[in-house]
Amino acid sequence: MKALILSGGKGTRLRPITYTGAKQLVPVANKPILFYTIEAVKAAGITDIGIVVGETHEEVEAAVGDGSAWGVDITYIQQDEPAGLAHAVKISQDFIKDDAFVMYLGDNLIKDGITSFVDEYCSSDANAQILLAHVPNPQSFGVAVLAEGRVVRLVEKPKNPPTDLALVGVYMFDSTVFEAVNAIKPSARGELEITDAIQYLVDNDYKVNSHIITGWWKDTGKLEDMLEANRIILDGITTDICGEVDETSEIAGRVKMGKGTKIINSCVRGPAIIGDECIVENAFIGPYTSINDRCKIVCSEVEHSIILEDSQVLNIGSRLEDSLIGKNVKIDKDGRKPRAYRMMVGDNSAVSVT
Ligand code: TTP
Repeated sequence: MKALILSGGKGTRLRPITYTGAKQLVPVANKPILFYTIEAVKAAGITDIGIVVGETHEEVEAAVGDGSAWGVDITYIQQDEPAGLAHAVKISQDFIKDDAFVMYLGDNLIKDGITSFVDEYCSSDANAQILLAHVPNPQSFGVAVLAEGRVVRLVEKPKNPPTDLALVGVYMFDSTVFEAVNAIKPSARGELEITDAIQYLVDNDYKVNSHIITGWWKDTGKLEDMLEANRIILDGITTDICGEVDETSEIAGRVKMGKGTKIINSCVRGPAIIGDECIVENAFIGPYTSINDRCKIVCSEVEHSIILEDSQVLNIGSRLEDSLIGKNVKIDKDGRKPRAYRMMVGDNSAVSVT
């Protein structure tokens, strides 16, 4: 059994972060989402992993390397354009060969891992197995129709969803899927759709099983989903304090803090994680906050947010919340007159002033 992790794509829903970086490398609880995916695949006993990469291939390769950090072998597969999930499968045939494989979307998080699903597929005689979950907004997903547990129909992002069963970003296939991805044609949005490939398998009497999952999972393609994933992972952390906390500061609840970090006259209320070499001074860090390495939070409050490395929140005097702040960002209140908001904000950013 091999694994194929998809880490290309456009990432339009997470702009402007994805103008300068891969969305799969955005950290949740200070660890890139892609790393959780690799760990889940390894935990399922799979060590031969292909990662499909696109424009952000250099960044992904620099972060993941040859996989030895996890005890796995990584092969990178370059996708020249994000032409769809089935296209990513199609270009991976030389890597997969005749093996069965699990395909895992690199921006999806499944809290309980994938081991039981992989085991279930391996002990079945199915050609493919998909994971499904009941969702309140099936219009945003590929949606499945079942008959006695077998998949009979799949529709991509339907305006009038026939069911509320969304495709979760983990699929298991044997090599019959290559017949499917080579037979299908691009959809109206110009992509080779994985739903069309699976529909091909169904229509040609291949056996496609499904498993409805009840545990927590998330497609982290949008800001609010990223913040929810951050919440769920932080809920599971245990306290581990490195660095220095001065005597006028208070740490409450479960807090992780990296080496070289200084907490000065501040309150950190967990669950929260603060990376290495940060300075938190005269500040409040509230629950569900992840602050990455070398950040500076001074005379400000931050809650329910993700802040990437080398960023600063200085003297804002009020609370930053529900926010995703990129790398090397400075948010500052400088006291100059006239009192006004002065910004340099990139394309497709969102700033909410209250
Ligand atoms: P999506 O989130 O469906 O697509 P996207 O990354 O282009 O994002 P958006 O809709 O915001 O523009 O992709 C799911 C995963 O699959 C994600 O990790 C990116 C990856 N992917 C590829 O590797 N190749 C592709 O051709 C596509 C469409 C996605």
